[in-house]
Amino acid sequence: MSEKMGEWRRGLYCGQVSSGHIGSEVTLMGWAQRRRDHGGLIFIDLRDREGMVQLVFNPETGKEVHEKAHEVRSEFVLAVKGMVQKRPEGTENPELKTGLVEVAVKELRVLNDSAPLPFMIEDETDVAENTRLKYRYLDLRRPSLQGKLILRHRVAMATRNYLSENGFFEIETPVLTKSTPEGARDFLVPSRLSPGSFFALPQSPQLFKQILMISGFDRYFQIVRCFRDEDLRADRQPEFTQIDAEMSFVDRDDVIGVMEGLVTVMFREGIGVGLKPPFPRLTYAEAVGRFGLDNPDVRFGLELKDLTGALSGSGFKVFSEAASKGGVIKAICAKGAAEFSRKDLDDLTEVAVSFGAKGLAWVKLTSGGWQSPIAKFLSDGEKKAVEEALGAAEGDLILFAADRASIANTVLGRLRLNIGGRLGLIPEEGFSFVWVTEFPMLEYDEADKRYVAVHHPFTSPMDEDMDRLDTEPLKVRAKAYDLVLNGSEIGGGSIRIHRSDVQSRIFDKLGIGAEEAETRFGFLLEALKYGTPPHGGIAFGLDRVMAIMTGSESIRDVIAFPKTQKGTCLLSNAPSTVDQKQLDELFIRVAKKV
Ligand code: AMO
Ligand code: AMP
Repeated sequence: MSEKMGEWRRGLYCGQVSSGHIGSEVTLMGWAQRRRDHGGLIFIDLRDREGMVQLVFNPETGKEVHEKAHEVRSEFVLAVKGMVQKRPEGTENPELKTGLVEVAVKELRVLNDSAPLPFMIEDETDVAENTRLKYRYLDLRRPSLQGKLILRHRVAMATRNYLSENGFFEIETPVLTKSTPEGARDFLVPSRLSPGSFFALPQSPQLFKQILMISGFDRYFQIVRCFRDEDLRADRQPEFTQIDAEMSFVDRDDVIGVMEGLVTVMFREGIGVGLKPPFPRLTYAEAVGRFGLDNPDVRFGLELKDLTGALSGSGFKVFSEAASKGGVIKAICAKGAAEFSRKDLDDLTEVAVSFGAKGLAWVKLTSGGWQSPIAKFLSDGEKKAVEEALGAAEGDLILFAADRASIANTVLGRLRLNIGGRLGLIPEEGFSFVWVTEFPMLEYDEADKRYVAVHHPFTSPMDEDMDRLDTEPLKVRAKAYDLVLNGSEIGGGSIRIHRSDVQSRIFDKLGIGAEEAETRFGFLLEALKYGTPPHGGIAFGLDRVMAIMTGSESIRDVIAFPKTQKGTCLLSNAPSTVDQKQLDELFIRVAKKV
């Protein structure tokens, strides 16, 4: 690195100054972190993207420079020339990479000043996130955030290199396009040239990547921005980045194999962690049965057990009725949690109810036996069966869910995570991957009274389940797979339908009539007729991977300019109203201003 500013040539980053430079002159440029005046000496910590180094100004060796240094305030932009020297004994700073040395400054140029800051540039900060987002350029000066974005760059580079070496071409697909059905709302863009018509921003490049397979590119990838207008959470942004890939002439295990290689490279190049594929796999039925959720956190036990057989004839009506209606009775056993307070149990009940439970039956196993509101309804034999099935012992807490399987599993799955957190069962370190396979093809949308695709409508059913499509559609499994990391879905994909007759049949099942299919995806249906190879692929959520890799609580921390929970950009104030003239050009009238 060597930039020239007039006769000043920067030879080194601040964070790179080391003992090896002692005795040599360096030219550095950066931001003044802070100035300290100490008995005549002035110290300034000079910071750039690589780190910080201490500058020292001694009035005895340079009066003028020393005076100038007096004027420096936080975040002034400086250029200095000086001599690297060993710090006097006892003043070394082991916390700092450059902590053994300092730079005795001979020349100082103040390249720019800075207005007083809304907050200090420090890693440890309790400044409200909204303030940080408004001044994101200052927030991004914090070394921890810079580090995360630089790491993201490295991981993206490793991704490009790996996929390119494995025969994938990066091909761009349109951003102004047609709706892609990934289950969220579309962001729409009005067309001036076709009044009354709208583009949709892509929820994913799904349709185009399939078309690239039809075109014969064989292996495609793209690090691509996707847009989904959905309710935001810590791991969801309205625009986010996918590592999107598609391959021809493959089956599920081919895709999984190549992608395990990719993930291994990302973690090795990113943070030097060695992963050991193949990663474990669970079918959807196993994942949901044992962990309650299709994104199981397999880092700890506390697994769900099915007690329907043991308790269906029980005197507790809630249980027997659930079973007789075709539901299930399931439970988890939290080791040592009998000491949970009334308040803890109320909190857990609240969690259960928020996920659809009608209540939360519990049992504390105490020295005096079952302490529980339902103890009186169960026979000794039933109690014993419960304890045995759960491996429960004195001091444990058992929680039950009796309901439709989908509700019982979700409720216990959520309680499991909650209790895992309370009891400290979830390891803070480490990366635990699991593939979830054989997802159901369809689910029934109660609100819309129709079947919807669990993954998306282009996912192929499993061959052996094809003939159930008309008789037991909810039992049809799909050739779909998700990759889950530490309980978070970081990627999902499938083998696609490559025959237009099968695709039409699925649309039919989804209640998408021929006409609607034609308007929405006609171009894909048409393309499928012209020699489509078998193909499949996957997309990873890069933001989610980076958030987990860097231990960030939110994906906002690994995105340079993220949106708030309300979907706004506090830095630019987008979205905003526009001129009437612009609206007129687009033939748009705003019906109601909020
Ligand atoms: P899917 O919808 O599962 O699949 O998305 C793939 C991955 O993208 C990430 N992701 C998100 N990340 C941040 N914010 C969001 N709003 C968001 N939504 C999704 C998740 C998810 O696993 N076209 C298919 C892929 C395919 O079949 O090949 C698709 O988009 O980590
Ligand atoms: P009740 O007899 O309705 O007072 O319920 C007794 C206990 O069973 C209470 O602790 C309820 O929270 C719990 N309960 C009620 N419905 C269910 C259910 N569907 N699954 C599990 N526990 C339940």
